[in-house]
Amino acid sequence: MENFLDIHKTDPEALRHIIDSAKAMKDARKDRPRGATDDELPLAGHMVALIFEKPSTRTRTSFDVGVRQMGGQTMVLSGTDMQLGHGETIADTARVLSRYVDLIMIRTFDESVLLEMADYADVPVINGLTNRTHPCQIMADIMTYEEHRGPIAGRKVVWSGDGNNVCASLLHAAGQFGFDVTFTGPAQLDPEDAFVGFARQKGSTIQIERDPVKAVSGADLVVTDTWVSMHDSQSTKERRHNMLRPYQVNEELMAHAKPDALFMHCLPAHREEEVTSQVMDGPHSVIWDEAENRLHAQKAIMRWCLDR
Ligand code: CP
Ligand code: NVA
Repeated sequence: MENFLDIHKTDPEALRHIIDSAKAMKDARKDRPRGATDDELPLAGHMVALIFEKPSTRTRTSFDVGVRQMGGQTMVLSGTDMQLGHGETIADTARVLSRYVDLIMIRTFDESVLLEMADYADVPVINGLTNRTHPCQIMADIMTYEEHRGPIAGRKVVWSGDGNNVCASLLHAAGQFGFDVTFTGPAQLDPEDAFVGFARQKGSTIQIERDPVKAVSGADLVVTDTWVSMHDSQSTKERRHNMLRPYQVNEELMAHAKPDALFMHCLPAHREEEVTSQVMDGPHSVIWDEAENRLHAQKAIMRWCLDR
């Protein structure tokens, strides 16, 4: 039994196993109706709790469908409807849920909630996004890159915009999978030193380049995300937009990347803000494969957590 809390906390061999297993499980479902179960049902007889303290379309749907494809059942719990949101401690909630379910996925605000849940649960806990990281997303992104272009090791990935939770997990992945990252964005929104430091200490080249055109030069992959995350105060929206506008991913910017560069966005996207529709719907974009691969990557993560 293992938790999947963050990419830097999972060893590289396990991460590689998860990606390979996700690819194999995806291949095994080719030509199968979406509602059909898999041939193998490793989650048969298993109940999975999916807890959301923030909104979600992809995480919620892909985990729910993934569990069912593997023969298990889910209960989707909203943080506000649980006693969790009304004073019961995270530790007590974790102890109780462990008596009912076999696996917990939680999307929450403060990372400490995830960590406390993991500390006190007797079943595996998966990070479905916190204010600091989004590891399931980046596992799907690695899978997507490799499906299209082969091994990601040694590639140059550019993050343009806010150095947020998704960017943090990308930096963790750079260290674990051996690729390089150039961050381009305003200094106020740089990723935390801890994320940059982890990747550098693992041997990745991590650059901070304020000029987006210079940053994307030679990029194999360009990634961006919303300018205002769910945990950011709406009162910062105008200031963030003003700071981030020069970092919009548009066709002019993509023209400075390698001709075969890919574009990714975890979604939901704000068209014509952090990315133009021309790029989202254009030849570099693999955003729909990226969204689909949440399903396959998370199925592999759940199997690995339960060692099944
Ligand atoms: N990318 C992602 O996690 O999307 P949702 O917020 O819709 O789950
Ligand atoms: N950075 C975004 C990602 C959403 C999937 C947020 O935290 O809101």
